[in-house]
Amino acid sequence: MTSTPELGPVAYHRGEFVDARAAQLPLTTQGLHYGTGVFEGIRAHLLDSGDLAVFRLGDHLDRLLAGARLLRIDIGTTRERLTDVVVELLRRNGFVADVYLRPLAYKLGLQPGTRPGVGLTGVSDALSVVVSKLGDYQPPQGIRCLISSWRRPARAALPVRAKITGGYVNNALALDEARSAGFDDAILLDERGLVAEASTANVFVVRDGRLVTPPATGDRLPGITRATVLTLAADLGVAAAEAELDSTDLLQADEVLLTGTGCGVSPVIEIAGRPVGEGRPGPVGTVLRETYDQTIRGRRPDTRGWLTTVALAEALR
Ligand SMILES: Cc1ncc(COP(=O)(O)O)c(C=O)c1O
Repeated sequence: MTSTPELGPVAYHRGEFVDARAAQLPLTTQGLHYGTGVFEGIRAHLLDSGDLAVFRLGDHLDRLLAGARLLRIDIGTTRERLTDVVVELLRRNGFVADVYLRPLAYKLGLQPGTRPGVGLTGVSDALSVVVSKLGDYQPPQGIRCLISSWRRPARAALPVRAKITGGYVNNALALDEARSAGFDDAILLDERGLVAEASTANVFVVRDGRLVTPPATGDRLPGITRATVLTLAADLGVAAAEAELDSTDLLQADEVLLTGTGCGVSPVIEIAGRPVGEGRPGPVGTVLRETYDQTIRGRRPDTRGWLTTVALAEALR
């Protein structure tokens, strides 16, 4: 269940498919120094047919491109071509297993005549994509969370609604704090003391059978899994609402769920040393988790076009 990612042999790096272990970047890469990059986390799952299906690829690419525009990064290709690159990369890596895709667009180097500094113009851009073999990494029996002492930055200070590399220092400090104290993950509050999100996931609570999650418009990433869960809840007839939550809502909830591409739909069974509900996954979270897992694995009809199927060569199977 818990697994360490295994890097795929082939990466897409600056316009070419290359040996992932041999790909290099200059030490002066601006994105490395200033956090001026934007990334995505995308999953593809092995279908019963033996092919792979990328989940909501278009939505992930749209979010990547929106972040790139914000940082004035020219990804050097079209969305259509990037879709083809992802499909081709999965074929070339040949993993017959669940995988994680990580596209990263970043500022590279100062162009001749540009004054040194942290500016976004006059700097070349680059795009790399790596694939790793990665199974589930959150235990299905539930996770234990800390309420972090780190606050999620206000979007007037940092655009946390985009997956900007530099912004993840905040998430890293929160996760480090949680893990150092023996917890699995951290839930961060925003500047107002309201629930923002977990280190790399959105937060839902269940109270009296009703699902509630903070609005997508606040100081948090508008998660694609979050949106998926809201859609699936509607399909299942589970009442759901978007409303601000505070720490008391977390501590008094019947169930708490984290949602993200990495963790899927993960039940939280303990927060800050208190059991959530009865201290085990509850019924609403369990049905949503199962429905989500069936959806990403193509075991429910793909009526919304969420799956991009990648046929693996017969020889690979
Ligand atoms: C800070 C943060 N919040 C929420 C999420 C969940 O987003 P998604 O469901 O699109 O993976 C992620 C993961 O990408 C994240 O990094």
